[in-house]
Amino acid sequence: MELAKVFGYQVLDSRGRPTVAVNAALSDGSTHTARVPSGASTGAHEAKELRDAKTGFTERFYGGKSVYFAVDNINKIIAPAITGLAPDPTNIDAILAKLDPSDDHHTLGANATLAVSLAVTKAGAHAAGKSLARYLQPTGNLLIPMPMVNILSGGAHANRTLDIQDVLVLPHGATSFTEALSWIVAIRELAVIKGKKYGATHLIADEGGLGIAFPSIDAACEFVTSCISEIGLKVESEVSIALDIASTEFFDNGKYNLQTIGSDFTSSQFVKFITKLVNEQPIISIEDPFAEDDWAAWQEFMDVAPKNLQVLGDDLFTTNMARLERGITDSCANAILIKANQNGLVTSTKDVLDKAASVNFKTVVSARSGETEDSWLADLATGWRAAQIKVGSTHGADRTAKWNRLLELEATEDCEFAKPF
Ligand code: PGA
Ligand code: ZN
Repeated sequence: MELAKVFGYQVLDSRGRPTVAVNAALSDGSTHTARVPSGASTGAHEAKELRDAKTGFTERFYGGKSVYFAVDNINKIIAPAITGLAPDPTNIDAILAKLDPSDDHHTLGANATLAVSLAVTKAGAHAAGKSLARYLQPTGNLLIPMPMVNILSGGAHANRTLDIQDVLVLPHGATSFTEALSWIVAIRELAVIKGKKYGATHLIADEGGLGIAFPSIDAACEFVTSCISEIGLKVESEVSIALDIASTEFFDNGKYNLQTIGSDFTSSQFVKFITKLVNEQPIISIEDPFAEDDWAAWQEFMDVAPKNLQVLGDDLFTTNMARLERGITDSCANAILIKANQNGLVTSTKDVLDKAASVNFKTVVSARSGETEDSWLADLATGWRAAQIKVGSTHGADRTAKWNRLLELEATEDCEFAKPF
């Protein structure tokens, strides 16, 4: 079977902003569509998505955020190079890497390369007669990841109701994905009811979390902890808290500026602040506690962090092999967030995940704050045997598409359920 037609076009993401979609048609008449996500708190070292304001393309609407230049790159440069070839992701990704040899895919745009890479991977699964998850894991067991789910949102996703970006829950005591999700929905429903006390209405943030203004990070953690215990679940042995500090967003001139408490901190002071927080709250995972290039603070923290704490690099690593290797050598973290669009290709994203797993780093496959109704992330995480998955909350079709696909995989394929802790 071969790629009969590869066609890119512009669609909208969950924020109503343009993003790239690709249809990969096969010679058997089937068509395989992939849509790519987009971040808001993007790391400086991510692969570069192309938006028309940066390319000189003029567009009356969308404030320069249209992606017609990236779409043109697909239709004029990539499609002619791969049409007629077998839908083999390894080969097609190698061709994409040759067409745009820049490290960060800024020539064609990572939104163009990833959309093609994903559509070809879906087409490859179809040609092999397999589900996408099974295609990505041809021999071993499929592993449904443990969900890490957003209850409260702040930072760039919620008009800075909190300094930090996410207060999430990890239902690590659940014995199936179905059970884990039911616990999370119950926690979120109680959070909606209890949250009304903190203001007449709450904001629904970009990833579906509740934007409630709390006076401190501790107060936000205590609120979520009370929701967990009030529905009858055991804090720490069944459900723990995870935070995405997204600290690069408030790191300026060498200082961490926490607006809600009106203080700023040097790196060493912020290491102490974070250490106190993780020791006093039932926190099992902390993401981006320090800024993307503040490697020394990450190292200092690893020396004093509780041994069972997951220290997770998102903007620190940006799903980039060289940055991950530096983090391993310098002992800066023990877990990595994996976002395919930070990398730009499916196969090289998998290489980063494999490298992390080979040194016993925990792997957390993640969505972006701007998502689509596409559900490929669930298959990637399950086929790649990631320990955890982070998709945002349980609100909005862009989020539930991934949860529902995981429910489908659990119901229809022979899968294990991850026990990440
Ligand atoms: P982003 O947020 O997609 O806006 O970067 C997600 C995250 O930081 O984990
Ligand atoms: Zn993050």
